[in-house]
Parts: sequence; C-alpha cells; structure tokens
Amino acid sequence: MQSIIKSNNLNDDIRQILSNIKFDKLFILTDEHTINLCLPLLSQVDMINNANKIVISSNDSNKTLENLSHIWKQLTENGATRHSLLINLGGGMITDIGGFASATFKRGIKYINIPTTLLGAVDAAVGGKTGINFEGFKNEIGAFYPAKHVLISSHFFSTLNKNDILSGYAEMIKHSLISNNEEWQELLKLDIENIDYEWLNDALFRSVSIKEDIVKKDPFEHNIRKALNLGHTIGHAFESFALDNNKPVLHGYAVAWGMIPELYLSHKLCNFPKDKLQETVRFIHSNYGYMSISCDDYNQLYEIMRHDKKNANSSAINFTLLSDIGEIIIDQVIDEELIYQSLDFYRDSVGL
Ligand code: GLY
Repeated sequence: MQSIIKSNNLNDDIRQILSNIKFDKLFILTDEHTINLCLPLLSQVDMINNANKIVISSNDSNKTLENLSHIWKQLTENGATRHSLLINLGGGMITDIGGFASATFKRGIKYINIPTTLLGAVDAAVGGKTGINFEGFKNEIGAFYPAKHVLISSHFFSTLNKNDILSGYAEMIKHSLISNNEEWQELLKLDIENIDYEWLNDALFRSVSIKEDIVKKDPFEHNIRKALNLGHTIGHAFESFALDNNKPVLHGYAVAWGMIPELYLSHKLCNFPKDKLQETVRFIHSNYGYMSISCDDYNQLYEIMRHDKKNANSSAINFTLLSDIGEIIIDQVIDEELIYQSLDFYRDSVGL
C-alpha cells in the first residue's frame, strides 16, 4: 500500500524518503512548466540535482502513447533497470502517465508522486490508477499500480489560480458527499475570493484520507471504490463533449456540473434529500458557473456515457448514487429516459 506523506519541508522529506528506498538510478518526470516552476524547489537535494530529467509537454491532451513511448525511451537510453526509481513531479497528467510508464517498464519499477496541483493531490496522485488517453477516450489504457509514496506539499498550491483550485475542490466536494454531513457543510464554506490556505490545506488532507480509506477497502474498484465515481459518469460526458466541440473545460468543473444531474438521479431514485440537493447545486453554480447544453446535445452526451469503461456493457449505464450524504448506492443502471430527465434538471437549474 502506498504511504501518503504530508510534507512541511520538501527537501528534508525527499531526502529522508530517498534514503529509505533502495534503487540504482533516479529519474524525474516533469512537464515543461513544473521543470521550471517546481523542480527548483527541490534543489537542495543532491540526488535530485543529479537525477536524469525527463520532460514532456503539459496538459491532459499530451497523456498520449507518443509521450509514454518518449518516457520509456528516456529510461532505456539512460540505463534504467527494474531497480530504478521514477519521481513524477506535476499534476494529474504527469502522475497518470508517469505511473503507467512505471507500471510497464521492465514489468514495473518503483515510483513516487509529488503532485503540484490540488486536483492531483486530492485525486490523481493517490490510489494507484495510472494510464493514458487513447483514440479520443480518456484513460482508455492503464493499470492499477500505486506509487510507493505520495508526497503532498501545500507549498505548490498557494500559487495556483482560482480555476485550478476550484477544479481540485470539486473532487473534495465529491469526497465530502460520499463521507459525512459535517465535512460537506464545512466545504460549502469556501470563499474562493478570499482563500484561507491553512483551512484549505486541512480540508485537503481530510479529503485525501477519505479517498485513502475507500481505496484500501477496494483497490481494484470491484465495489465501494465506485463511490469515487459520483458525478463522473455525466461529468466525463460533459468533459469529452466540451473537448469534441473545441471548448475544453477543466476536469473538476465537468465533475462539479456532472454532480448536479447525478444528485438529481439520487433524489429521484434513492430519496437523496431535496434541501441538500438544492444547497449543493447552489454552491456549484455560484463557484463554477455552468456549461451550456441544449436538448439537441443529449444524444451525443448519451453516446459518450455508453462508452464509459465503468459500464458492464454498452447498453447499461452505471451510476453511483446517494440516498443521503455518506449513504452510497453503487451499480445503479439507469435508462436513457431518466438520464435525459436529469439533463433537463441540469438545464432547468441554470435556466437554459
Ligand atoms: N478517481 C477515482 C479513483 O481513483 O477511483
């Protein structure tokens, strides 16, 4: 199982971790931004300065077979063995592709994730899902292969812009919805124009623990880990739809919007309380705005949902719903008509 380390001193903590792992060569994967903005923060560690650097382009659209191949090549050309160690320094794109490169290189090498975005810290870097996008589908090829350590330092987050904070925060809201009322109420207090970073940092670590507990119970997503998919069935459809129409949106925004119809389905089918539905919808609208869709888009959205790998077969679309906050109901197969109704609710809720 991976260890999650809350780092108060990046250089000391990395030095300590590296001295406790046996490896022959050290590699660091960064993107074109994190190499300049984040890597210098680790410059007091000699082993890091002397490590082989691998750099790829940023953005999820670069989580490709070509970039994966580039990482494999760099490892091979620089003499990596199955006892080498890879550090992934970046957002979810870097930890996903770096994790998958580690899972596959010489049948698996050890790796460490150092997430540099809130979204990465609260979700992608934790829990062992790795992969790349393929043929237009997100995370189509991948493996469950956990990092040995995930080192989380809030140092990186105070420089993120408001949109990137909100993108990660959507996953934190999701974690609160699948855990308990107090956490949900606490998170709705966010004042995005006036962020209290100490408060956010505490909330982040509570959120990571919620995910960690679930992943420990079900690392390969046979049952309760499906709770983490709340908001994602329709959220992923929104995200792909936006991308197909050349108007890409941040992952967390799509998840936030996806939670609106999925909580509506929860209310309709499992009696999720109406007041909590309304309060969550209000929070999402006031912080995330909305993505414009019309009823002419429903078929396209539905087709994207049908391809989702969470479905047992392509004619049954699988949802995680809630009967209340923290009351999870997995494997709810929902028909087309009801999904369309939930999209109507989404549109009505924003006056579209
Ligand atoms: N991002 C959902 C999970 O890790 O299962």
